[in-house]
Amino acid sequence: MTPPAPAKRFAVIGNPVAHSRSPFIHQAFGMQTGIPLHYDRLLSPLDQFAATVRHFFSQGGSGLNVTVPFKEQAFELADTLSERARLAGAANTLWLHEGRLHGCNTDGVGLLHDLIRLGHAPDGKRILLVGAGGAARGALLPLLNAGCSKLHIVNRTAVKAQALLDILREHRPDTLARVSGGGLETAQGAYDCVINATSASLGSLPPDLPEGLYAPGALAYDMMYASTDTPFMKQARKHGASVVADGLGMLVGQAAESFRLWHGVMPDIAPVLHGLRQAMETA
Ligand code: ATR
Repeated sequence: MTPPAPAKRFAVIGNPVAHSRSPFIHQAFGMQTGIPLHYDRLLSPLDQFAATVRHFFSQGGSGLNVTVPFKEQAFELADTLSERARLAGAANTLWLHEGRLHGCNTDGVGLLHDLIRLGHAPDGKRILLVGAGGAARGALLPLLNAGCSKLHIVNRTAVKAQALLDILREHRPDTLARVSGGGLETAQGAYDCVINATSASLGSLPPDLPEGLYAPGALAYDMMYASTDTPFMKQARKHGASVVADGLGMLVGQAAESFRLWHGVMPDIAPVLHGLRQAMETA
């Protein structure tokens, strides 16, 4: 009888990384699919990202998820990049194949999975994207490719919203008729979905958005997550959003897509999201 193959090793690399829920999620996917794996947290010194990644793979590691503040460095380090990673300008998933380091970005797909789970697939929807940093950039193409009818990007610093439009002008001019951008004050009108991609929820105040943004039945989605409502979610409830969600489902969704890339099997997101929510509420 041949002995079972040893479990492959994976990790999430970041700084800080102690808070990361990725080990919980990937171990749960492994149990669900019957795929044995080890999944750890890997704290990289801020100035040692490349060396830490190389050491991990030289010691037999199979794949890495990348979190703050290293996603752009992961993009630079990869030998080959998926289109998703190129358009996001960042990579959150790395793995070795035939000696080459591959990079992909699964954050946008994770967002899409979650919008669909919530019954708010972007197809035909008017979407307001708040923020113009890395998180917003990663969401652009997935939202446009999923067929939203309008995507307005607003940011506290208006020129950064314009910079995202420039990226689309260069890479996907075919999408420009559906896209616009400006400062937060230009967020006028009714939207079917308002997505917060700012880091404002790390503080105590929501982005300074006007009232009247939510069309009947609209979804407010915060890419951040917490065990209680974020400032953006509280603001959205006050401003009349019908459905309000945090980004925990996006987190599980991006992990599921990384798992699929590494193991060739798409895990079931819903039970793992449920388990993670319960674990957070009882922590
Ligand atoms: P990430 O990679 O998480 O997107 P980032 O690239 O630093 O992080 O971008 C942070 C985003 O949150 C930016 O769009 C930032 O707006 P500015 O470009 O004007 O700085 C936005 N942001 C952070 N705090 C905010 C706040 N209190 N109100 C509104 N926007 C905020």
